[in-house]
Amino acid sequence: MNSPTAPAAAPATETPTTQSQLQMVDGGIHFDGVKAVDGVSITVRSGEVLGLIGPNGSGKTSTLNLLCGMLRATSGSIHLDDRDVTRMSMRHRARLGIVRTFQSGRVFARLSVAENIEAAALGGRLRRSAARKLRDEIIDELGLGAVAAAPASSLPAGQIRTAAIARALATRPRFLLLDEPAAGQNEAEAVDLINTIRGFARRRSCGVLLVEHDMAVVMGTCDRLHVLDSGRTVVEGKPPAVRKDPQVIEIYFGKRY
Ligand SMILES: Nc1ncnc2c1ncn2[C@@H]1O[C@H](COP(=O)(O)OP(=O)(O)OP(=O)(O)O)[C@@H](O)[C@H]1O
Ligand SMILES: [Mg+2]
Repeated sequence: MNSPTAPAAAPATETPTTQSQLQMVDGGIHFDGVKAVDGVSITVRSGEVLGLIGPNGSGKTSTLNLLCGMLRATSGSIHLDDRDVTRMSMRHRARLGIVRTFQSGRVFARLSVAENIEAAALGGRLRRSAARKLRDEIIDELGLGAVAAAPASSLPAGQIRTAAIARALATRPRFLLLDEPAAGQNEAEAVDLINTIRGFARRRSCGVLLVEHDMAVVMGTCDRLHVLDSGRTVVEGKPPAVRKDPQVIEIYFGKRY
């Protein structure tokens, strides 16, 4: 177990603090004539949470999938710092630290939550003692203590998703890509989960791309926002400025306000 006096700002399993960026330049993907993403340039920097928002079908998930390699760009390029990863497989990109989670939450159902997290840490090439230390830090920080010994299959859907995020964090990603991680939760729960991920990622210089449809949730949790509509960038900037942008008000709030 961790010492209660261990400073939260300096986790023992912290990865080296190097400034890094994951970038798509003029990226696009077309599906049978539908331009799901059309010339989008987006950069996620280590230590920040970049919120990717926009109406249904605006290309958020496709953009995330282009960055992690689940989709191959039909135009433009993707870079991890100076390295061109445009044609690199998702698996290869994951080995470089570009990690995506899935909305359904992928865990080993028969393993306990703690075992799931430890297995992910070992898969991330930590030695067993370090893997266990990181496992305990993650369980503590994500508030999974009460269910750590329970089989993952016994958890409700929301906690399975949190356990899947815990597994992703255990691989020590340089960039974590989250597609609506708080789906189904209320606003307060969503803000809490995302702020927890944010704190964890910041202390380890991990960059986070957060796809989230709820403007209220991204306002309180993201360092910057990137807004898409019909596969194109509308605006990027700090949350208060984005919220005041007339185009954002029209396309994002127009229907609701
Ligand atoms: N595999 C696919 N085949 C065909 N069309 C697709 C495919 N994936 C996405 N699209 C289309 O591309 C567009 C963008 O979809 P995408 O899922 O990226 O949007 P989104 O912003 O994530 O939407 P949502 O808020 O509903 O999750 C939509 O018109 C969608 O129907
Ligand atoms: Mg989506």
